[in-house]
Amino acid sequence: MKTEFKTIGIIGSGTMGIGIAQVAATQGLQVCLFDVNAVQTEKAILNLEKTLQKLAQKEKISFEEAENILNRIQVCTQLQGFKDCDLVIEAIIENKDIKTKVFQELETIVTEDCILASNTSSISITSLSAGLKLPQRFIGIHFFNPAPLMPLVEVIPGLLTEKTLAQEVYALMKSWKKTPVIAKDIPGFIVNRIARPYYGEALRLVEENIATPEQIDDAMRTLGGFRMGPFELMDLIGVDVNFSVTKTVYADYFYDPKYKPSLLQQRMSEAQLHGRKTGRGFYDYSENAQNPNPEKDEALYHQIFMRIISMLINEAVEAKRLKIATDEDLELAMQKGVNYPKGLLAWGKEIGYKKISETLQNLYEEYQEERYRQSPLLRKMVF
Ligand SMILES: NC(=O)c1ccc[n+]([C@@H]2O[C@H](COP(=O)([O-])OP(=O)(O)OC[C@H]3O[C@@H](n4cnc5c(N)ncnc54)[C@H](O)[C@@H]3O)[C@@H](O)[C@H]2O)c1
Repeated sequence: MKTEFKTIGIIGSGTMGIGIAQVAATQGLQVCLFDVNAVQTEKAILNLEKTLQKLAQKEKISFEEAENILNRIQVCTQLQGFKDCDLVIEAIIENKDIKTKVFQELETIVTEDCILASNTSSISITSLSAGLKLPQRFIGIHFFNPAPLMPLVEVIPGLLTEKTLAQEVYALMKSWKKTPVIAKDIPGFIVNRIARPYYGEALRLVEENIATPEQIDDAMRTLGGFRMGPFELMDLIGVDVNFSVTKTVYADYFYDPKYKPSLLQQRMSEAQLHGRKTGRGFYDYSENAQNPNPEKDEALYHQIFMRIISMLINEAVEAKRLKIATDEDLELAMQKGVNYPKGLLAWGKEIGYKKISETLQNLYEEYQEERYRQSPLLRKMVF
């Protein structure tokens, strides 16, 4: 297929679109940027200008480079401006019908060898490609937020994607100085699937009055070396956004109880306690707010850590069994996409798969719930 990518089209100038535009323009590519909301694009470009100026002031880039990056991004007022693009990455609202309509229109504008990609977090790549005339040129390119800072990019070929395309996009992402991994087209791809219990099991511990959010965050930071505990992370991501990803993954796995969402998270969303962006989530972010200090308890902290890490390692082992990605990519994804301190497969080995399996078995016996079922591979790894 394509051998050279010179002009990149980005649809959507929101959080992700402008970030991806910055990444491509920094690598010297010409970028066409389109959004239905012209005011949003104007705002996004102004913010980018400020960001680039700050980078120049900190001597991360020169002032000349800052200007060049900005000049490489051309705002298009219509999709028609994308006719010479070699690759178009869509980063618009997470709605399958709207995305499909945009791609169908795009197909009437771009040349036949232009690659079409979606940055979707949760919609199946295969389902998006199925509505197109040339589904073989369609692929998922999933950046993480903030796109200029997070190294990971999941490259997701759908069932109808040309076999060689994933490797081409992989090479392109490397040339953009990203850390690409290739993932199967399954709900949540790699990171959003494997990371579910980090939030889900933490929420459950609170719902069952076993520990407080402060204690859980403290335990995961101090015993696990995670940069952020589950609750501070949900507050940062947005409790509503996190809840919506959980609901999608749950529904898309045909309601597998492993991914069952939390009532507490639903109530938090209903109350608009979305976290930092609304000033209050699991923590209070208002001025002079005093959040309680965690009551330290060694045995409880160990229990919290083992329960959450065992669930995460079980997910990673199941992803390995299903060959969602190579072992190396599974390890890279969690470290480069969500800053986990170690790859989960290596972590399982370090703690001991037997211990992980026993922790899950005990939980299963206690609750009699499918949620704690072990990957068949984990059970084999114990022996
Ligand atoms: N925010 C994240 O953390 C994150 C991370 C990875 C992937 N994603 C995915 O990236 C995509 C964009 O997310 P976001 O957070 O940047 O959203 P956003 O709401 O910040 O931006 C979306 C933009 O798309 C524009 N838009 C809507 N319909 C359009 C259309 N028909 N044509 C052109 N523009 C249109 C909107 O005006 C808006 O500016 C989604 O698919 C999301 O799932 C988001």
